Amino acid sequence: MSKFMEWIDARFPATKMWEDHLSKYYAPKNFNFLYFFGSLALLVLVNQIVTGVWLTMSFTPSAEEAFASVEYIMRDVEYGWILRYLHSTGASAFFIVVYLHMFRGLLYGSYQKPRELVWLFGMLIYLALMAEAFMGYLLPWGQMSYWGAQVIISLFGAIPVIGDDLTQWIRGDYLISGITLNRFFALHVVALPIVILGLVVLHILALHEVGSNNPDGIDIKKHKDENGIPLDGIPFHPYYTVKDIVGVVVFLFVFCSVVFFFPEMGGYFLEKPNFEQANAFKTPEHIAPVWYFTPFYAILRAVPDKLMGVIAMGAAIAVLFVLPWLDRSPVRSMRYKGWLSKVFLLVFCVSFVILGILGVLAPTPGRTLLSQVCTFLYFAYFLLMPFYTRLEKTKPVPERVTG
Ligand code: HEM
Repeated sequence: MSKFMEWIDARFPATKMWEDHLSKYYAPKNFNFLYFFGSLALLVLVNQIVTGVWLTMSFTPSAEEAFASVEYIMRDVEYGWILRYLHSTGASAFFIVVYLHMFRGLLYGSYQKPRELVWLFGMLIYLALMAEAFMGYLLPWGQMSYWGAQVIISLFGAIPVIGDDLTQWIRGDYLISGITLNRFFALHVVALPIVILGLVVLHILALHEVGSNNPDGIDIKKHKDENGIPLDGIPFHPYYTVKDIVGVVVFLFVFCSVVFFFPEMGGYFLEKPNFEQANAFKTPEHIAPVWYFTPFYAILRAVPDKLMGVIAMGAAIAVLFVLPWLDRSPVRSMRYKGWLSKVFLLVFCVSFVILGILGVLAPTPGRTLLSQVCTFLYFAYFLLMPFYTRLEKTKPVPERVTG
């Protein structure tokens, strides 16, 4: 074996990569359960790719046959039902895991210097993931696939001057048709997965260049032993590879319960109108995107003007990109920030959840008002951050991790 590895290492840096990224990558020893979600995101990514490849083998990307081919997968293809449910549940699981992963970043200031690029690559992954999920949703060619895409693509029509041409260019037709389905299929199955995989590699390379943050937000490289190993660091492998298995087991337990017992999740993971084939002449009574888009959909609807709504929705995502430069706090972790930061983060999270709920529901005057208040609070968290993070009194940060 060692001769074989020598042969490989003389030609390819296999051992070096193993050491740099696993056995000699020193991670802070105080990671908590919130640090499971990075590896869980990787697990879900692999699940999506593997099940996606097998679904593609039996799916037909045409307006005439797409809906029936999904039924064929569900009823006739051997294990087709489980492939499909793993993939559809995996899509929601991806967003649950990624939202918790991002929340961890907000909580411990993981986006702060020197991890700005880790955050930016993460945000690009998030954008690509949204595009991936949106395009994937059109493929089963159900009523909600069709009308959901109709609503979102028509938003581009609000852009002055080029709006109408742009929507036509995206659809490739005067209305959503088999041509749109075909190009979304190509992007969903080939182009975007490549982009996402590439970005994940960059995300992890950037992280390993500067080292992981931790719940204390302390720089563990400040205290090293005589061999240059951080005193508060432990090798990622075997310590965290083994610890992450605990997260994987708990995750798979919950994930499989959903796949086997509640794959539709009461209409949240697979919406009810999508069990009916797309029909351009029949608008569903109530159109709502899948749950992971609803906070942004609620922001869109909170603004009375269509163009301004689109801008607000875009800004809600864009503002996350500049987050590393909005936080002026001398400390990273919420443990040592002042009460203003704590209150703002709490209010932001609650607003995000309320917006998510409002985005599912049909609008009423009361709900619209509430979504306006929550949109205001959503932006207040970011736009006031340069002020409250500088004003508040922070607690002294310990020299070494506290566990
Ligand atoms: C496919 C999606 C993603 C995958 C597979 C992924 C993977 C990972 C992994 C394996 C880690 C190291 C383990 C950990 O700290 O949990 C990590 C860290 C990190 N990720 Fe992601 N990530 C994804 C999306 C995102 C997104 C959307 C963001 C934010 C916009 C983000 C921000 C971060 C940050 C800031 C860290 C460093 C955390 C720290 O050191 O405290 N990631 N990611």
